[in-house]
Amino acid sequence: MKYKTLKGLQDILAPDIPVWQHIEAVARDIFRTYGYQEIRLPILESTEIFTRSIGETSDIVEKEMYTFQDKGGRSVTLRPEGTASFVRAYVEHHLYNNPAPQKFYYMGPMFRYERPQAYRYRQFYQIGAEAMGIEDPNLDAEIISLLSAILRRIGLEGLNFEITSIGCKACRPGYREALKNYLRDKLDGFCGDCRRRYDLNPLRILDCKVPECISSRQGSPPVLDYLCAGCREHFDGLKYNLDLLKVPHTINPNLVRGLDYYTKTAFEVTSESLGSQKAVAAGGRYDGLVDEFGGPPTPGIGFALGMERIVPLIKGSVKTSEGPDLFICPLGDEASVKALVLAEQLRTHGVRIEANLESSSIRSQMRKADRIGARNVLVLGEDEIRKGEVVVKDMTTGTETRTPIDIQELARLIREKK
Ligand code: HAM
Repeated sequence: MKYKTLKGLQDILAPDIPVWQHIEAVARDIFRTYGYQEIRLPILESTEIFTRSIGETSDIVEKEMYTFQDKGGRSVTLRPEGTASFVRAYVEHHLYNNPAPQKFYYMGPMFRYERPQAYRYRQFYQIGAEAMGIEDPNLDAEIISLLSAILRRIGLEGLNFEITSIGCKACRPGYREALKNYLRDKLDGFCGDCRRRYDLNPLRILDCKVPECISSRQGSPPVLDYLCAGCREHFDGLKYNLDLLKVPHTINPNLVRGLDYYTKTAFEVTSESLGSQKAVAAGGRYDGLVDEFGGPPTPGIGFALGMERIVPLIKGSVKTSEGPDLFICPLGDEASVKALVLAEQLRTHGVRIEANLESSSIRSQMRKADRIGARNVLVLGEDEIRKGEVVVKDMTTGTETRTPIDIQELARLIREKK
């Protein structure tokens, strides 16, 4: 084979496509009931959009971005996530002038140059949601409940909703100092990246995946113990609301997000069926990001779910292949042309037709009809054309129905048999 997909990228083929479409359709439907509107954002953005928001010392920015110079010498990046692009658009189009909350969703590919492994790709698809302009934890609860509604309707069960608070501008400096004090005499046990991050952004040490770092940071103080009164009240409000909305959740004080823009609420939805890449969705609040991008101070919260992690979990329960309602087998050249016209006319009545457009033996055509799962078969030969009458065979029951070659009549018959 001469050409192959790049490492970490994949083609999505027919047996999986109905599963993807099912997830997308459920998400769109639920977004509609919550008042979210779709936004379509470019895949390519100025690199600075991501470095400023996700953070210079994050793994994504340091190691995983597809960054290159375009022909005009500008540094551009294939988006590794959607929130930064969304906030850029939110500020660029002054969307904050609309009544709050302004609520948006998007679907599309993201790119991270990670080491590929099961459920981890270099191009992967997210469905994301962002809600802007409300600081109250009511919005946090609503968006987590929305995520839960999507996952439930898709048919996912046994998921854990893990929540935490990671504080705000006011309480973070105190936590940062506490963490540095704790880690100071343990630095030798950390990787080079973490030792460098100790001064630049010690919180990132909590997100390092190197096994020695994971064991060396055991016992470090949890950020929840350092929340200011405002953040604590916000977190208590969120927990109360989630109980009220009956969204089961657990508090995970060790939950760390790989992106720097979060404030207060952070959450992750995990499945034990996925091994080490167990987050099917994740998100949080980012009350400082609009400000950072030059807009008026505006709170925001959002999430994104990972399609490649959800599809395998529900694959068995979604109907994946649907054959045509009718397969037309023409016998002879004249019948082939007639089949082409007949199929075209029947389709205008909303029935799914597959016509064999080149004449071949009846046996091979019947075999083909069977292979593609046709519900009914119609044989069109010279005799049938002359008499103006055909026989429709139901492939499941074997029953045969004689009917005139009349478009209305045929369409009605096929629809009845659906
Ligand atoms: P994230 O946690 O980086 O958050 O990604 C969200 C989800 O995308 C993950 O939980 C996972 O399901 C999926 N995902 C991430 N990386 C990969 C990968 N390499 N292969 C397959 N799936 C992956 C964000 O992206 C934030 N923008 C979410 C957000 C929206 N926060 C606020 N608003």
